[in-house]
Amino acid sequence: MRVRGSTLYTMPPGVRRAATAIVVTSAVAVLAATAAYADTGGLAPPDPKSPNTQRINDAYWVIMVFTGLIFFLVEGALIAFVVKYRRGRRPRTVEGPQIHGSGKLEVAWTVLPVVILAVIGSFVFYKLPGIKNVPEARAAGDTTVEIEGHQFYWLFRYPNGAIAIDDMRAPADSVVRERITAPEEGVIHSWWIPQLSPKFDAVPGTVNETWFKAPAGRYEYRCGELCGVQHAFMNGYVQVLPRAEFEQWVERRAENATGVALGKEEWTGVCQKCHRLDEEYVGPALRGNPLLADRKGIETLLRNGGIKMPAVGNTWTDEQIDALVAYTKRFAKEGGEGGGQG
Ligand code: CUA
Repeated sequence: MRVRGSTLYTMPPGVRRAATAIVVTSAVAVLAATAAYADTGGLAPPDPKSPNTQRINDAYWVIMVFTGLIFFLVEGALIAFVVKYRRGRRPRTVEGPQIHGSGKLEVAWTVLPVVILAVIGSFVFYKLPGIKNVPEARAAGDTTVEIEGHQFYWLFRYPNGAIAIDDMRAPADSVVRERITAPEEGVIHSWWIPQLSPKFDAVPGTVNETWFKAPAGRYEYRCGELCGVQHAFMNGYVQVLPRAEFEQWVERRAENATGVALGKEEWTGVCQKCHRLDEEYVGPALRGNPLLADRKGIETLLRNGGIKMPAVGNTWTDEQIDALVAYTKRFAKEGGEGGGQG
């Protein structure tokens, strides 16, 4: 069968449409990527401030160098070959030259990837112990913080019994061990302080351990695992404080186990993830709700959950519930004190 010349040189309409769609999509993706790139500080991970995140960063850059070079090599060759060996004016039905057999080339593309993988693997395994292993305990220098992922807040327990919600505090320049878990009937979260310690899952019934050692400062943390409707709000800050300041805070918090300081954190970190005072949010508006001053009623709700509400306080101590009521009772009356919104 004879095909007319002109149809040999043009793309069929279906192919042309697909090609246009691919070009447009790629252009949009490149533009969007540029914006995202500028917004996140580029290809670099957040500036590491702990010895283990420093090592993770080193591994990141070694892998980045190899994968970057390979990317440009492969994409460059692809584009060069597309241009050099394009069909041009040859008819579509003509076969291209048949090439086979190059011993040197075949050895090269087998051996090189093996060498590259060995280099990357060796480097990562060399760095791994310094990331994974908690440095040896040095006398009284260490602090252990138990970190629990709840729907939808983080609860921190300190060795002296102090409790905090969403705002973690830690002493500067000493090893802070993090024991990460979640309550038995909870879901999986993921604890991540990008500048300080690697991402570890908070799994019900299991304890994952990691650590950091950082200079004083304020470091952002976030939940790295989709854990439900308010997952995106499980973020906040770790305040690394000079040791004396930290000790002072942790003692005061332990002494005031039923105080409004903890109550306010519970209100903001636990209740307000889903409730507002004056408007319906995920849950109903709360202002004027007599339950806010009803110690027994609020305990039942926190421990057992409601119709749609998870049992956010099923692991709480009595003191924690006292602390919450000490703060929330002010909102129990219609037109009660404002503030705390947001
Ligand atoms: Cu907790 Cu996502």
